[in-house]
Amino acid sequence: MTHVVTENCTGCRFTDCVSVCPVSCFHGDDERLYIDPIACIDCGACKPLCPVSAIVEDIDLDNDQWLDVNAEKALALPVVRTKQTPLPGAEARRDVITGNA
Ligand code: F3S
Repeated sequence: MTHVVTENCTGCRFTDCVSVCPVSCFHGDDERLYIDPIACIDCGACKPLCPVSAIVEDIDLDNDQWLDVNAEKALALPVVRTKQTPLPGAEARRDVITGNA
């Protein structure tokens, strides 16, 4: 069991999630983050902190696409442990996703 970062993170990269992860299981590229399913202890602390609801439990996925992407990317990318500046346009994207635009 693991949590998974899904499409809504792309272009946002708010990184509120990383500050509460007790096992540093978030990895990232320039566009978004991914969760290492081996390291994740499924605590769920990150999920309510994401402004765009990008983090879901694997049991709630419609298919394994995002589970596979997270596992593959996390292996190849550096760990992200500290909150960073969101990507340009992240707030506008959040407002569209949350229906506040
Ligand atoms: Fe992405 Fe949400 Fe974390 S936008 S970086 S999963 S807080």
